[in-house]
Amino acid sequence: MKKINKKSFKKISPSILSADFSKLGSEIKEIENAGADLIHCDIMDGHFVPNISYGPYIVSVVNKITTLPLDVHLMIDNADKYIQDFYKAGADYISIHYENNIHLHRIIKQIKDSGIKAGVALNPATTISVLNDILSICDFVLIMSVNPGFGGQKFIAETLQKIIELRRIIDGFGYKCLIEVDGGINQDNIKMVSDAGADIIVAGASIFSQKNKAESLINK
Ligand code: DX5
Ligand code: ZN
Repeated sequence: MKKINKKSFKKISPSILSADFSKLGSEIKEIENAGADLIHCDIMDGHFVPNISYGPYIVSVVNKITTLPLDVHLMIDNADKYIQDFYKAGADYISIHYENNIHLHRIIKQIKDSGIKAGVALNPATTISVLNDILSICDFVLIMSVNPGFGGQKFIAETLQKIIELRRIIDGFGYKCLIEVDGGINQDNIKMVSDAGADIIVAGASIFSQKNKAESLINK
């Protein structure tokens, strides 16, 4: 596939949750050739979220297929016990949720001490003020724009205000922290999300449902 280079400065992190796993290798090559910047791996345990996806083994397989950085989103309980496993599997970015990690500061340090990027993920119902005392050490914040657990859900519009507010805080303090937005992003709303201040945009269904991934929002 020919690589089209018309993309804006935002990074796109396609979520392979919506890929066809019977041909994962070619699906990943396709998004890579189309210009994806990262690969988003959604890890779900059936406890923190109602769905079960995959674990470190599949992440290590993805790592063998691609040279792109792996952006691992942990939607699991006891995340601290699995950081090393995902690090060894090839994770370059790891996000953990605020909602189920009491010792957030410790786990963020644990991730950063492994030499990889550490992020805090927030559910749609969680206010960004909970980040006040952790933002200075975060490499990124993942704002969920759907309730975590499933691909292909509808974007929750109230999220936009959170992105705008977080952008203002990060820029105001001069933090290096990036803003990642995840869930329900498609051709119709990507500009709004981008304009609100997102640096990294995750998209699953809207990319993998396209026959020609180079025509998807990877290049918008
Ligand atoms: C939802 C996941 C998302 C999801 C995004 O729990 O965290 O990463 O796969 O997929 P779409 O773009 O289909 O909402
Ligand atoms: Zn995700």
